[in-house]
Amino acid sequence: MKKPKVSVLGIGYVGLCTAVGFASKGYDVVASTHDAEKAAKINKGVPPFHEPNLKKLLEETIQNGNLTCLINQTEKAVLETDLTFNAVGTPSKPDGSIDLQFIETSTRDIGQALNQKSKYHVVVIKSTVVPGTTQDLVKPILEKESKKKCGSGFGLCMNPEFLRQGSAFEDTMHTDRVVIGEYDRQSGDALETLYKDFYGENMPPTIRTTLSTAELIKYASNSMLATKISFINTMANLCEKISGADVKIVATAMGLDKRIGPLFLNAGIGYGGSCFPKDVKALIAHSKNLGYRLELLEAVESVNKAQPLKAVEFCKELLGNLKGKRVAILGLAFKADTDDMREARAIPIVNQLLEEGANVTAYDPVAVPIAKTIFKNKIRYAASATACLKNADCCILVTEWDELKKLKPEDFTRSMKQPVLIDGRRIYDPEEFSRKMKFTAIGLGH
Ligand code: UGA
Repeated sequence: MKKPKVSVLGIGYVGLCTAVGFASKGYDVVASTHDAEKAAKINKGVPPFHEPNLKKLLEETIQNGNLTCLINQTEKAVLETDLTFNAVGTPSKPDGSIDLQFIETSTRDIGQALNQKSKYHVVVIKSTVVPGTTQDLVKPILEKESKKKCGSGFGLCMNPEFLRQGSAFEDTMHTDRVVIGEYDRQSGDALETLYKDFYGENMPPTIRTTLSTAELIKYASNSMLATKISFINTMANLCEKISGADVKIVATAMGLDKRIGPLFLNAGIGYGGSCFPKDVKALIAHSKNLGYRLELLEAVESVNKAQPLKAVEFCKELLGNLKGKRVAILGLAFKADTDDMREARAIPIVNQLLEEGANVTAYDPVAVPIAKTIFKNKIRYAASATACLKNADCCILVTEWDELKKLKPEDFTRSMKQPVLIDGRRIYDPEEFSRKMKFTAIGLGH
């Protein structure tokens, strides 16, 4: 079978991993973005963000010519290919609802290209969009601009992505499921055939459904994971009131129940990143517009908002007034293996510490350049964990980096002014650490 040519619009995590994934399997891939700086990096084989295992394959696919990245040339990308994945960003508006402006403009460009094309082309929405968007916004724009009927003149699918930052490329290459929402059978068949060729013998279970069901599957999945996190954080907060209780053991035991499962039950200072906070808010706002209040998700969100500030409360309990105290922050990224600081829990924690008059020094293996654009010179940045801890009155562990998991009590006691540690991610053994220093952690009863 001759491999179809693929175009990808938007080169964030989803777009770039999709583009490199297909290119690495021998497809001709054309990406297009409005961001000239990012495109230049990609065309040199340099990923525009920190993502393990992406660099080598990006380099290879650029070198062997399977992948090229255009600047603002959606029409060219569509005209040169058979199928287009639209993976442009869908940020939040100030009220939490989804901002679809990039979907609208890119869809208009795709439609105008389709107008010049006689061959059947498949348009696939990969961005996270609220249920109804593909049918009620994307389809009419495509039909208007192309002057063609959806389903005969061109095909339309909605194909959500489930990759995680930090393992984005592996997740693209090995996913648990493929979800294909389809307007017309022909486009659904074309997309399923493409994935069968892509995954070969490892083709995961595939769900074919309507456009809006596919859209909701993405939100429901992220909301469920966010709910698991806020649930276990609620149990963590309860454990703190119960002498001898430890949420980590509670979660381990709960996870052994197959109906519950062990994943996403790590208690801590809450979830951050570019997905859970945005998607939970967007679904709440969308559902409200439809006349149904998502009370459960409202609670998930409010638990998550309060959770990071608990670390500062612990700090105050242990040190008293924070004015002039030196606080070391270990980890700034919203999770390990990424330099992304969108909605990172470090942000409310650092801001609150500064508000209380503390002097903050922070260390992160990769996120410092981005952190500098957020905190500017309001905090100090250390070049290593050890340097960060020097003369500190207290340390808050914020991100679960492997390198930080390896620290021993002596690494803290050796150079801190007061050996006080707050484990915001439950990565240290309470028994070992509390023997040697003042130690407290989320979800640990006293
Ligand atoms: C999340 C989903 O896991 C992906 O399936 C989805 O495709 C992606 O959003 C998306 O919509 O694009 P991601 O945001 O990269 O992926 O990161 P996660 O690994 O899910 O972690 C999110 C946040 O939850 C992090 O701040 C992490 O520290 C926190 N978390 C995670 C916990 O606090 N406890 C846990 O048990 C797990």
